[in-house]
Amino acid sequence: MDSNQAKARIAALRAEINRHNHLYYVEATPAIGDYEFDQLLRELALLESQFPEHDSPNSPTRRVGSDLSSQFVQVRHQHPMLSLANVYSEQELGEFDTRIRKALGDSAPLYICELKFDGVAIGLTYHHGQLVRAVTRGDGTAGDDVTANVRTIRTIPLSLHGDYPDEFEIRGEIFMPQSVFAELNARRLDEGETPFANPRNAAAGTLKLQSSSEVARRHLDCYLYHVLGGGLPQRGHFELCQAAKGWGFKISEQMTPCRNLNEVRQFIARWETERKHLPYDTDGVVIKVNDLAQQQALGLTAKTPRWAVAYKYKPERACTPLLSVDFQVGRTGAITPVANLQPVRLAGTTVKRASLHNADQIVLLDIRQGDWVYVEKGGEIIPKIVGVEPTKRPPSSQPLAFPKRCPDCGTPLVRPEGEARHFCPNLYGCPTQLMGKVEHFIGRRALNIDGLGQETVALLFAHGLVGNAADLYSLRREQLMMLERFAAKSADNALASIEASKRVPFYRVLYGIGIRYVGESTARSLAEHFGSMEAMASASVEQLMQVPDVGERIAQSVVQFFAHPNNQALVRTLAEAGLQMRMPEPDANSSTKTSNELKGLSVVVSGTFSRISRDELKQLIAQHGGRCVSGISSSTSMLVAGDRMGPAKLQKATQLGIRIVSEDELFALLGQDG
Ligand code: IVH
Repeated sequence: MDSNQAKARIAALRAEINRHNHLYYVEATPAIGDYEFDQLLRELALLESQFPEHDSPNSPTRRVGSDLSSQFVQVRHQHPMLSLANVYSEQELGEFDTRIRKALGDSAPLYICELKFDGVAIGLTYHHGQLVRAVTRGDGTAGDDVTANVRTIRTIPLSLHGDYPDEFEIRGEIFMPQSVFAELNARRLDEGETPFANPRNAAAGTLKLQSSSEVARRHLDCYLYHVLGGGLPQRGHFELCQAAKGWGFKISEQMTPCRNLNEVRQFIARWETERKHLPYDTDGVVIKVNDLAQQQALGLTAKTPRWAVAYKYKPERACTPLLSVDFQVGRTGAITPVANLQPVRLAGTTVKRASLHNADQIVLLDIRQGDWVYVEKGGEIIPKIVGVEPTKRPPSSQPLAFPKRCPDCGTPLVRPEGEARHFCPNLYGCPTQLMGKVEHFIGRRALNIDGLGQETVALLFAHGLVGNAADLYSLRREQLMMLERFAAKSADNALASIEASKRVPFYRVLYGIGIRYVGESTARSLAEHFGSMEAMASASVEQLMQVPDVGERIAQSVVQFFAHPNNQALVRTLAEAGLQMRMPEPDANSSTKTSNELKGLSVVVSGTFSRISRDELKQLIAQHGGRCVSGISSSTSMLVAGDRMGPAKLQKATQLGIRIVSEDELFALLGQDG
C-alpha cells in the first residue's frame, strides 16, 4: 500500500468508526459487535503508525468514546478513567507477558485474572465510609454524576464497615443481570417500545434515566475491581480487593492469582465455557499485574494502563440455512421479521428462530432466500442473525423482499420518519392489532382480567362479541355460555374478574388502554402528575413533557391518542362502565398539606435532595400550585438547589437574578417543617 492508498483507507476507516461510535454511545443501538469494532480500530491504528503523515489529533484512535449526556452534572475524575488494551490471541497475550517481564527485569510479576464484565464503568467515591459520588467514565477525564441513580443499586454499599480508608475511590462495572434484562425487554416489546439490544445497553440506558425510582425498579447490579487512593496499607491489587470485600463491596469470587502465563491460559480456557452459566454477561478476561509498586513502575499510556490487558473472547456463532421469514404484527402495528432456521446447536441450546430486527438490517446484511446465515447469542431473548456465508449462496439467489402490505389485513405498510420499523397503519381495523390491544388490556399488569385469556379473546372476536376493550363490560352471561369451552362456572368467573377490574387503580387503566410508548412506569408518572384521565386527555405536548421521563415522542403519542374519536369513545365507555379514571383523593388524615403558595411560579429543581426524592419534591411543588420546568430562563421564578448541583446552572440563575432556595428553605416556605 502506498501513502495515497493509505490516506484513502484511513479516511474511510475514520468515517466508519465515527459512525459506529455514534451508534454505540449516542444512539445506544450498535450496528456491529465489539470484536468487529476493535478490528476496525486496530486496522486504523496500524495504518496511522505506518503512515504517520496522515495522523490527526481528531482521529477516533485518540479517544475513548463518551457517554456524557447533557442532563447530568459533569464531574472531573481525580484520576483519569482509563480503558484497557485488548488482545485476541494466545500470541498477543504472550507478547503482553514478554513486555511486562522485560520492563520488570528480575522481579517476576504475579498476575491476577478476573472476568471482564460487560456493563458500564463506574467510579464511586467514599468519604468517612459514606458514598458521596458516583461518576460514569464519560470521556475518561470527566463523567456524569449519576449518584442518585447509583444509590438505588442494592449491591453498592451506601456506608461501609470495617477498616476502610478515610477517603478513596473504587471502580467497577454496573451491569444488568440476564434475567432482569429478559423481563425488561419482554415488557418493552409488550409496550410497543424497541427492546434493548443487550444487557449492556440496557444498563447504560437505565443509568441515564432521569427518574431514579425507575432505575430502582430495574435491579442493576455491580462488581467492583479497582481501588484507588494513596496511603493504603495493602501492597497488591488482590489484597486491596479482598479488603474492599470486607468493607462491604461486591467483589467477584472468580478473581484468581496466577503465577505465570500458563496459569493465565488455564483461567482463560476454563472461563471460556463456564462463563456461559453465569447469570450476567462477560466478554473476556482481564489480566492485571498484582503488585502496586510494579504497576507504578510499568505506568500508563494516554488511554490504557501498561500493567493490565483484556483478553476478549470471540462471540459464539453457528451457521445454518435460513428456511423462511415470518413477518409478525404486534399490537401497535409494528412489523417484526423473524427468521425460521434449520435447527442448530448454539451455546448449549437448539436455535430454530432468530430475530432479523427490521428491514434495514435485512438490507445491511444482504440476506437472501436460501442463504446460510450466522447466528449469535447475546443476552437477547431470541438469538440474532449477524451475517451471511457468501460461499454457500445459491447462484441465482433473490434478495429477501420485505412485504409492502400488512400480512394480516393487507393495508399498505408505512415507515414513519426516524423509525427503523415498518407499521401497519390500520390501527382501528387490523384484526391482529385490535386483538392484541384487548390482550394487553386484560393482562396481569393492566386490568388483570384473569377469567379471560388469549384464546378467549380470539373467540370473542370471532363471534363478533368484542371489538375493543370497552365491549368487555357489556358482555352477558348467556353470550359467554354460547362459546366453546365456556360453562356456567367459567362464564361466572370471567364476569367476576371483569367486574373486579373496575377497582383496578387509575394508573393501570391508563397503562391498559395501550397508548403507544406509555409503559407501566410512564403511566404511573402521568397518573400522578395529572390526577385524572380527563386532565391528561386535554394536556398539550408541552404540559406532558413536564412529567419526569416524558419526552417529545411520548408526549406526541399521548396527544395523538386522545385526538382520535375511537379512543375518545373507548375512554368514555370505560368511564361509564365504572373504571377508575382518577387518582384517589388524598387521605384527609394525611399530613400532606396543599396551598397556593407557589401559584403561578415556574420552578426549576436541580441537584439531589436529602429529605425526599426529586420526583417527590416536584410533586410537592405541584401540590402548592407551582409548575416545574426543566431549563433555567428569564421566565423562571425560582430555583430549588440541591446537593451537587451544576455550577453552570447556579451561575445562570444568579446572573438572571432568580430566587434560589435550598431544600430546607422550600419546606419552611410551604409550612412543611417538622
Ligand atoms: S480494570 C485501569 N477489570 O472493561 C484499569 N476493567 O475495556 C481499568 N471491565 O474500562 C479497568 N471488567 O469498564 C477492569 N475485571 C475488570 C473489568 C473491567 C470489565 C471494563 C471496564 C474497563 C473496560 C475496558
